[in-house]
Amino acid sequence: GTIYLKDYTPYPFDLDQVHLTFRLAPSATRVLARLHLTPKGEGASLHLDGEELKLISLGIDGTALQPADYLLTETGLTVHAAALPEGAFTLETEVEIAPNANTALEGLYMSNGMYCTQCEAEGFRKITFYPDRPDVMARFHVRIEGDLPVLLSNGNAGASGEGWAEWDDPWPKPAYLFALVAGDLVATSGTFTTKSGLEVDLNIWVRPGDEDRCDFALESLKRSMVWDEEAYGREYDLSVFNLVAVDDFNMGAMENKGLNIFNSKLVLASPETATDTDYVRIEAVIGHEYFHNWTGDRITCRDWFQLCLKEGLTVFRDQSFTRDVRLGPVKRIEDAATLRTRQFREDQGPLAHPPRPNHYREINNFYTVTVYEKGAEIVGMLKRLAGDEAYRQALDLYFERHDGQACTIEDWLKVFEDVTGRDLTQFALWYTSAGTPHLKVTDAYADGRYTLTFRQSTPPTPGEPEKAPRHIPIAVGLLDLQGREVLSTQLLEMTEEEQSFSFDVAERPVPSILRDFSAPVVLQREQSPEEQAFLLAHDTDGFNRWEAGRSLAQRTLIAMTKGARPAQGYIDAIGNLLADDTLEPAFTAHCLALPGEDELAQALFAAGETPDPDAIHSARSALSRAIATAHEARLSALYDALEVKGPYSPDAEPAGKRGLRLACLSLLTKLDNGARAKALFDAADNMTESFGALSILIRAGLGDEASETFRARWQDNRLVMDKWFMVQVAACPPEDAVAKAEALSQDQAFDWKNPNRFRSLIGGLTANHAGFHAKDGSGYAFLADWLIKLDPMNPQTAARMSTSFETWRRYDSARQNLIREELTRISQTRGLSRDLSEMSQRLLG
Ligand code: ARG
Ligand code: ZN
Repeated sequence: GTIYLKDYTPYPFDLDQVHLTFRLAPSATRVLARLHLTPKGEGASLHLDGEELKLISLGIDGTALQPADYLLTETGLTVHAAALPEGAFTLETEVEIAPNANTALEGLYMSNGMYCTQCEAEGFRKITFYPDRPDVMARFHVRIEGDLPVLLSNGNAGASGEGWAEWDDPWPKPAYLFALVAGDLVATSGTFTTKSGLEVDLNIWVRPGDEDRCDFALESLKRSMVWDEEAYGREYDLSVFNLVAVDDFNMGAMENKGLNIFNSKLVLASPETATDTDYVRIEAVIGHEYFHNWTGDRITCRDWFQLCLKEGLTVFRDQSFTRDVRLGPVKRIEDAATLRTRQFREDQGPLAHPPRPNHYREINNFYTVTVYEKGAEIVGMLKRLAGDEAYRQALDLYFERHDGQACTIEDWLKVFEDVTGRDLTQFALWYTSAGTPHLKVTDAYADGRYTLTFRQSTPPTPGEPEKAPRHIPIAVGLLDLQGREVLSTQLLEMTEEEQSFSFDVAERPVPSILRDFSAPVVLQREQSPEEQAFLLAHDTDGFNRWEAGRSLAQRTLIAMTKGARPAQGYIDAIGNLLADDTLEPAFTAHCLALPGEDELAQALFAAGETPDPDAIHSARSALSRAIATAHEARLSALYDALEVKGPYSPDAEPAGKRGLRLACLSLLTKLDNGARAKALFDAADNMTESFGALSILIRAGLGDEASETFRARWQDNRLVMDKWFMVQVAACPPEDAVAKAEALSQDQAFDWKNPNRFRSLIGGLTANHAGFHAKDGSGYAFLADWLIKLDPMNPQTAARMSTSFETWRRYDSARQNLIREELTRISQTRGLSRDLSEMSQRLLG
């Protein structure tokens, strides 16, 4: 059934202490639990969640319960009130579970002979009978018995011996933060001393053979710990921090208290096997999970509707961390670009939902870009409105007031209201209502006054036909015709449906609006290509400078999908950009990157048109060729000049050069028949250049030989082979994509039960926009077949991959019919999981 936010009620018992004993065995693990419970009032029966558990014994205070005392169902165990003693009592259960049969990778499961857990959101109920809800927080004592060298759980290490170990977590936590790992593992270790002088042992645990790829993860962890002390005054609070890499994992990583568990692709890195982008992601996710220690673990969520309380804030924190320690200003461009392509896309389709939803069937379906990335944008807006100083005060108050609690979005907003004296009632709509506001701007100049007029409106989303005006922070600057700032960045606060703001200026200025992407809205403004080119050359705000080039590219590409020739103004603007050696290479690289095909389809649909995937693909390819032809000499000179010599370093500066150099290479490959790309592929001593060259060759239809070589070299490295599977299908010419995906799905190396491998191949196809949207519907059928096949094994990953269908209403009626048929076929599959059944129904609308 559907669960509603409005139905929240507190749990009628306090649970202060939990003792768990695990007797590990692959097909018959025993879990003994002792829960110390105190009723909050009188007469309540005791409900515990539990799924797929074999109940061995059940007792209270040492006495076994009789069958009449309780009710056991598919979803849990209820002990009748009459069977409960008065006052506090200890409930004892013993259950049996089969970790080696757990293919859903939720609860306790096995990956390459190693035991591990994933409990968020509701996996703990597959481990033992328990009040599996985030507002029930308890202290855990864990004993693990198992014939494996490394036995880990949350908190500080307790007693241990041959074949057993005990762990004590002094910090009360909800069950979703529980973790257990047991295996033959090796650690890369270090230490960290907190500002207050607590010595912390740091361990990165991996399978033997992987230990030479852990240094960067360890250094990233240390950088995260320093950063959180400086930027947020948050220190670590246990004497050990363990981080484990596993190969079979549904998501990126998990912030279990003192025992973070990671998808191995977000831990393992060496210059030969990881790209610059991988390094950045690894550091960001290690930061993210570490920052959860305060924003997630010490202060958690009252219920799962509040998920973005911890996720939005923690993403905002990890984005700030990456900007501060690595990427600088281009980080904002990347985050804004991701938000627009992925979150705006979600808002535009049938899956649109508020960052804080008010109902769901399966919570795992709400770990979305809206909850995470839009949630982070909302925190960013709060910071902008409050100012840096008040933001820090509000956060200090949040930690002080709510430490040890399970909180709501209202609690969070209240600290900002208390610190700033603002009324955030209207602002709260960002959390409670779905959709992307559109902001129409017009301007006027008369008698030394320049006036900007904004009109906001938000297109309807499922279940929300009417939208109230939002509180939108709009950062604006004004430039004169020489490109000098006549008004430095000001924050305008829009609260009405329509609102004007005036400025005294001597001549008509050029406005730079929504600087730094100050709010997640679509800006709509009639702007000449000349003005866009002017801003691309002169805007003093980095984001808007990039944005001007982006809009110029988009406008050119859209015209080209209708038969226009590449606009000379755009080609010239790119020439100026390439000639400007004052720019950071990373910034120039972002400016050279054309809007993606899916993004163009999104823009066309938003403009009321029907995107044609093949026309979009051809336009993009033709524009690249035109740029390359016009600027061949300059690109070639840049390509030579940007070569990074010496040993590989993942630092931002060399990475920025490699990024721009590969962008040049991609263009030059339009003209040189792959000569440079082949040479780079052969010479490269790092994965960034090797994989970069391979991708470029495949995109140009010249990749067969390099693909073979690459595969032969890396066939024993799972993570590198994931990249290989992905790029074969994502980058190949669209007309080959489905056939290629079908062939690779028969390859003996295609281990579809591994989520990374599944996502590489199936996600590779959906990333090939024109390939996936092949006219004959073969791409749709391929995806649907695989979702139906994966669902009984791993519903979470199947449901997540189904979001590739969310854009279906954009396309022509023939494609819509084909997709509707596939979605209907999925939804009518017998025995479909709750996850995929909810998704297919929402997708159908
Ligand atoms: N809390 C984790 C993170 O973002 C994600 C866990 C998501 N798990 C899930 N089954 N939906 O850091
Ligand atoms: Zn998170």
